[in-house]
Amino acid sequence: MYDFVSDQTRRRIQEKLDYQRQQKVEVAVAHIIEFAKTPVALKQDLDRFIIGQEKGKKIMATAIAFHYRRLGHALKESLANNGKDIDQALSQTRTPKANILLIGPTGCGKTYTAETASHLVGVPFVVEDLTKFSETGYVGRNTADILLDLLTAADGNPQVAQMGIVYLDEVDKVATETVTQRDVSGRGVQKGLLKLVEGVENTVEVGKERFSLSTKHVLFIAGGVFDKLDTIVQNRLDRHGFQGDWRDHLLTEDLVVFGMERQLMGRFPVRVTYDLLTTDDLVDVLTKSEDSPLKAYAHDFKTWGIDLEFTPEALKAVARRAQQERTGARGLISILHRVLGEDMFRLPGTYTGPLQVDENYVRRRLL
Ligand SMILES: Nc1ncnc2c1ncn2[C@@H]1O[C@H](COP(=O)(O)OP(=O)(O)O)[C@@H](O)[C@H]1O
Ligand SMILES: [Mg+2]
Repeated sequence: MYDFVSDQTRRRIQEKLDYQRQQKVEVAVAHIIEFAKTPVALKQDLDRFIIGQEKGKKIMATAIAFHYRRLGHALKESLANNGKDIDQALSQTRTPKANILLIGPTGCGKTYTAETASHLVGVPFVVEDLTKFSETGYVGRNTADILLDLLTAADGNPQVAQMGIVYLDEVDKVATETVTQRDVSGRGVQKGLLKLVEGVENTVEVGKERFSLSTKHVLFIAGGVFDKLDTIVQNRLDRHGFQGDWRDHLLTEDLVVFGMERQLMGRFPVRVTYDLLTTDDLVDVLTKSEDSPLKAYAHDFKTWGIDLEFTPEALKAVARRAQQERTGARGLISILHRVLGEDMFRLPGTYTGPLQVDENYVRRRLL
């Protein structure tokens, strides 16, 4: 059927698609240029979703707000000098970039904060699991794949992709000393990452189309548990007879001792540490976070006419269990599922009304 479409029609369709794409780019660029959220406002927005981590959220909000404000202003100036050519403006804009290193236990909101912030700012976001990467990309993924993911997250718009956020998950797993069986690979991956973070220009092929993409403006947030990093810092402090909380004294040299490449860490000047969530925090995740898994379950039950209610003691019991399992807030969903699974099966269609969950109820289900 396609054969019958005349060249003229085909050209018209192509022109229309190009036009639409251009429009989207202009909207996205205008969005960044107009970015005006203050660090305080961004932090307040984050507070609606992310419980605790007060100090961390403050640094995150500041770094991200400054990044987009800086990029927006630079783009605006560049566009004024380049007669509205967005490609030119993007490639000629030079801004100092402060990528973020996010350190903290599992399930405490590292990825979640980065993702929520990118939603709030309105830019593409991708998570890259670094344990799946290898130096050559032969066995696992390659750093070039990250560009492709970004492009996908930006609906195929290379200019929009260049203004996104890349979250490098489990960055501590590419440390050279801790990865015994893949020692060489760890260093290689870090070298590849360095290039990417510094801002490579790369060509990505999607079907017949080739896109040129640069990571110069992409904000990188690297997250990891960095097990025993505290000991490394503490030992250094002890050697020099210093005292204090290791979190306030973390230096690049400590990360190098951990097994990270000095140059790569130099590209992550903003350092954020997240804490273990306390039982009270976990209760707040259930009751206060806008994304609360409990609210989601309650909503599901409500569609069957069942009003799910947890007593404060029941909430505490769930939170305590999550803490015992050491998976942070991530464990809450599966724990709730274990608590409610039986009634989710049994009640719909046979019962409407309140479903009171108290501490005993939780205990019985979590034996
Ligand atoms: N501080 C928090 N406040 C609210 N929810 C949280 C928090 N930390 C984790 N969560 C919940 O747990 C899930 C997993 O957290 P995540 O950010 O992926 O952990 P990690 O720190 O290992 O990256 C999130 O999707 C979110 O639902
Ligand atoms: Mg994570």
